[in-house]
Amino acid sequence: MNIAILNGKVFLPGMITEANLLIEDGVIKSISKQRLPADKVINARGLYVLPGIIDCHVHMREPGQTEKEDFVTGSCSAAAGGVTTFLDMPNNRPPTLTKDLLEEKRRLAKRSVVNFGFHFGSSPDTLNELVPENTASTKVFLDESTGSLSITDDTVLEQVFRRSRLVTCHAEGENVRKALEFSHKTSTPVSICHVSTAQELQALQKDPPLGIEACPHHLFLSQNDDTGPFTLMKPRLKPKDDVAALWQAISNGLITHVASDHAPHTIEDKEGGMPPYGVPGVETMLPLLLDAVNKDRLKLNDVVRLCSQNPARIFKLQGKGSISVGNGDLTLVDLKLKRKVKADTLHSKCGWTPYEGKTLKGWPVYTIINGTLVYDEGAMIPGQGMEVKYERDRKDPA
Ligand code: DOR
Ligand code: ZN
Ligand code: ZN
Repeated sequence: MNIAILNGKVFLPGMITEANLLIEDGVIKSISKQRLPADKVINARGLYVLPGIIDCHVHMREPGQTEKEDFVTGSCSAAAGGVTTFLDMPNNRPPTLTKDLLEEKRRLAKRSVVNFGFHFGSSPDTLNELVPENTASTKVFLDESTGSLSITDDTVLEQVFRRSRLVTCHAEGENVRKALEFSHKTSTPVSICHVSTAQELQALQKDPPLGIEACPHHLFLSQNDDTGPFTLMKPRLKPKDDVAALWQAISNGLITHVASDHAPHTIEDKEGGMPPYGVPGVETMLPLLLDAVNKDRLKLNDVVRLCSQNPARIFKLQGKGSISVGNGDLTLVDLKLKRKVKADTLHSKCGWTPYEGKTLKGWPVYTIINGTLVYDEGAMIPGQGMEVKYERDRKDPA
């Protein structure tokens, strides 16, 4: 089945133009002013046609904690949030620390309705497993968080960096500097996850690494919104001054990308004696950012740069991050659509959201993955995502 997307405002590299797209055999075949016949026609008048949104930091919980989320519910949540590709973190039960465990996860992720890739885990006992083919990065935890994977021994840390093509790092406070130091020492690029304080930004400004990630909860919530377990995450919500510094770093370009850190937990777990860190977010990331566009805090162009172009560039995702002939992922958004966030209409298995009741203006309305319409104005159409591929780089063997 081919699809024509007519009269949308299309985000082409370097310009926005009203154009028609023809999608056939899983990819964009033509971008033109011409009206082409097709089996399915999407009238995109008044909509923006964006390159597929990439969420490069999610925890889909499979294997091991499928009571919280799995690849089907997590990926439906992604598709409904306009996310066409996600990169999944390794702090599963058991953590993704060996090639066999990665293969097992690969097999499970075939049920995802959106495209997917994997960050690989690291630990002192599994250095010899680093780094499997076709992974986005090695994830390093320098701080304690869900899954107890933190690396405290500098010799181990150096080995992990040396063996990796790219490290993504959970580093809070002073640990940011430590991550930068090991990146330099080993000539391995690093992307710093979920930056949340003015102090971290200062260190990063002096010595910017390949990637600097910010998360929606640190941009749209502050310590003042802290209601207990359901707004508890690592890093924690921060005072308003830190939030302002984050927005500043978004507008001056220091922050390279926004990712959700989608970290669903059951209501039962959150209400228990030791509430785990994390909030769901893959489905609300784009609406929150589009709402910020409507409030003039951001340009639509910035959203595309932060959530599609830059994640594709940093993680070297083949065929992602732009609308061009041969690519197949698109997110169509209606900047004028107003809707309330309600957990019972979201798709995550966890059944709650820290943004409950918030009215947001600007929502995805169609999500196209590998040339297939997967999310159609509120309806999910079963489809199959594919594992992403990565461009080779200078640290790869020829
Ligand atoms: O809040 C968090 N949740 N921070 C992390 O680093 C891990 C994540 C999770 O897996 O729940
Ligand atoms: Zn983290
Ligand atoms: Zn995370």
